[in-house]
Amino acid sequence: MFANKCILTGVKPTGKPHIGNYFGAIKPAIAMGHQAQRFNLFIADYHAINFMKDPELLQKEIKEIACTYLAAGLKPETDYFYRQSDIPEINEITTILYAFTPKGFMNKSHAYKACVERNLAENKPADDGVNMGLYTYPTLMAADILAMDTDIVPVGKDQIQHVEIARDIAGAVNAYYDKELLKLPEYVTADNVAVLPGTDGRKMSKSYNNVIPIFEDEKVIKKAVYSAVTDSKPIEEPKNPDDVIVYQIYKCFAPAEKVAEMAQGLREGKLGYGHTKAMLLDAILNETREVKEVYDYYMAHYDEACGFLEDGAAKARPYAQKTLQRLKETLFG
Ligand code: TRP
Repeated sequence: MFANKCILTGVKPTGKPHIGNYFGAIKPAIAMGHQAQRFNLFIADYHAINFMKDPELLQKEIKEIACTYLAAGLKPETDYFYRQSDIPEINEITTILYAFTPKGFMNKSHAYKACVERNLAENKPADDGVNMGLYTYPTLMAADILAMDTDIVPVGKDQIQHVEIARDIAGAVNAYYDKELLKLPEYVTADNVAVLPGTDGRKMSKSYNNVIPIFEDEKVIKKAVYSAVTDSKPIEEPKNPDDVIVYQIYKCFAPAEKVAEMAQGLREGKLGYGHTKAMLLDAILNETREVKEVYDYYMAHYDEACGFLEDGAAKARPYAQKTLQRLKETLFG
């Protein structure tokens, strides 16, 4: 389906992932990328400075995210894995795209609108704390996508609008000059991908404080698993597995026969919550053991990871250079 396509995705450097990120987003994104002819995955560090001003923290998060993707199965030799800031043509393309981006698009962008709504709810001025990087970020994101002749952008629901904006901007440029200067990207949403609940049953998210980490000591992981909310039904009372948070997390990644076993045990009143938690912990440790080893390796040999990022930029950059050249030749004559 994607065999002759370019799939591209950007990730913000947000540090170590939890199992919700890992099983619900990172692994499926890599699996989808590997069906494409060319898979571009980049670390969106220019996007990050909109909200992260501390260089030490930024570098720490870039390091963790780079090592995460390498551990999760990215193939640096064949995939295009790079830092956004290593491809300055993206920023030049952004400037060109500004000339074709109606301001109204930015006003409508979810990320900006969410900020404004939050401000108004708190009785602050609408644009409080909004910098131009945040305001215009869909245009930079459009450049990320269009620079690389991207066909497909796998996205979560929150990013659909941004890909549509990229498509609209590309369409406007092409229409103006009546030629296909920019490839129109499409988004795909991975709807078969599970959204992992957190330990309180809401979506697993750092902001809810309900996450189960991966790249931490076993003790920390265990503590998170055992904090999962349960009711006070005794072991022998039959339970509907879908009402049990531990089971809902478990079924997202544990082997099918183990999932069936837990479901049956709960239904028949043969499995207590303590036991289900032990099973969950076991599955997490098993399913992430190797990933963790590779992660630790790259964290300790970060120069190797940086080498991959530099090679990736060297492979990807000619695409952006060609796109920019095409645009400049047409625009400046
Ligand atoms: N905006 C995306 C996010 O918040 C990250 C991103 C930046 C991106 N540029 C992109 C995603 C280009 C896909 C394509 O997660």
